[in-house]
Amino acid sequence: MEFPATRLRRLRSTAAMRSLVRETHLHPAALVYPLFLCEGEGVRREVASMPGVFNLSIDEAVKEVEECAELGIGGVLLFGVPDEKDDQGSGAWAADGITQRGLRAIKASSASKSLVTIADVCLCEYTSHGHCGIVQRDGEHYAIENDSSVALLAKTAASLAEAGADIVAPSDMMDGRIAAMRAVLDAAGKADTPIMSYASKFASAFYGPFREAAGSTPQFGDRRTYQMDGANRREAMREIEQDIAEGADMLLMKPAMPYLDIIREARDRFDLPMGAYQVSGEYSMLHAAFQRGWLEPERAMLESLLSIRRAGADFIVTYFAMNAAKIL
Ligand code: PBG
Repeated sequence: MEFPATRLRRLRSTAAMRSLVRETHLHPAALVYPLFLCEGEGVRREVASMPGVFNLSIDEAVKEVEECAELGIGGVLLFGVPDEKDDQGSGAWAADGITQRGLRAIKASSASKSLVTIADVCLCEYTSHGHCGIVQRDGEHYAIENDSSVALLAKTAASLAEAGADIVAPSDMMDGRIAAMRAVLDAAGKADTPIMSYASKFASAFYGPFREAAGSTPQFGDRRTYQMDGANRREAMREIEQDIAEGADMLLMKPAMPYLDIIREARDRFDLPMGAYQVSGEYSMLHAAFQRGWLEPERAMLESLLSIRRAGADFIVTYFAMNAAKIL
């Protein structure tokens, strides 16, 4: 009987042994929690398809950020859910817009010193049609204009930086937005504000619950002319190269679990800090299974986060951030 000289099970024998040789770790400091800011006071409105996720009025959001800070969470990512929308999305860059007011309130609280405040930059939550840019309509046909949208997005980035965002994070997928944002930020005296680019963002079915949370479902058509085709790995690398050339400081990959191969390839190729966004649909599908008792919540949650870290993400934007931080 021949036994192998190497027995890999030796290093799995106890919890202490496994802990010593563990290759990938999860830390609260590498988690970012998304927040949806809405009008009103004392509002905590649960998103039907996302158990445990709320639209929060600014006062409630400040409390949530304080709790995140106590848990050691690394950052919060802010989205605005405005009452009023128009075809340009002017609420996105309004000095007194919902996200700008939220940023000022959060930055005024001491909690904001121990975590990073990131503002999503996009128009879709603010446009009446729900697209991420300016729509040109001609009867049945419509197009999302690139360059006019970029000008508005750059203005939005500067407005959010002025309101106190530590990082601006464009998620619109227009061409040339990073260079335009850098120029406008610099001109506004915000040369020190980093840009975290959602460099490779795929047109995904997994954003469905978010669109309910943010009220940003396109009223017609879809986002396939600006967000990427899920089949394209090489094109994702070109998107990232371009954003780096335009001045991106950090990368955000999205969605996460259905695109772990893209995260790994980006990690191997590029040296920028890189996060991944475990998006709403990833969260909701796990929760649906938890509710039915089909998956063990804690273990499945941590395993999903570990898969994203192991694929190469330095940090993870996730709706599980607070729950995970409580365990870690
Ligand atoms: C805005 C934006 C979206 C998400 C983040 N920023 C929605 C979309 O592109 O339709 C999705 C996040 C999630 O699903 O959790 N453009």
